[in-house]
Amino acid sequence: MFSPENEKKIDEYISHYPVKRSAILPALHIAQIEHGYVTDEDVQYLARRLDMRVNEVEEVVTFYSMYSRKPMGEYKLQVCRTISCHIAGCDKITEHISDKLGIKVNETTPDGKFTLQEVECLGYCDLAPVLQVNFDYHEQITPERTDEIIEKLK
Ligand code: FES
Repeated sequence: MFSPENEKKIDEYISHYPVKRSAILPALHIAQIEHGYVTDEDVQYLARRLDMRVNEVEEVVTFYSMYSRKPMGEYKLQVCRTISCHIAGCDKITEHISDKLGIKVNETTPDGKFTLQEVECLGYCDLAPVLQVNFDYHEQITPERTDEIIEKLK
């Protein structure tokens, strides 16, 4: 299911907790790294591995915006849409990215490079609006800075 290294990592995470199911978040993270997104097979496999029901794993995957159940672009452009970012104009950022890349929210560019998403609070409310690109945060983002970031990633 996973590479031997990732299987080992899952074993290690499981060993950190008194019950196997507590390792679900890091295990899903590994699944996503291994396959690019959380596949149906990942959900079933992790349910068996962590003594969970399939629907319980599915609930966790769909609750957290950091996990995806479908193939994603190489770069995930996640615009925070919660209150501080909303007041600071996140809609303009989302619209700008959408126009620039020709995709709507939750769509991926045809070349598989970018996926645009709206997410809940990223924890940098005092520096709104915030854009997360994979694991990097860009605070007080503007349409111009968004262009620079996208051009660099192309
Ligand atoms: S509201 Fe956007 S980072 Fe908190």
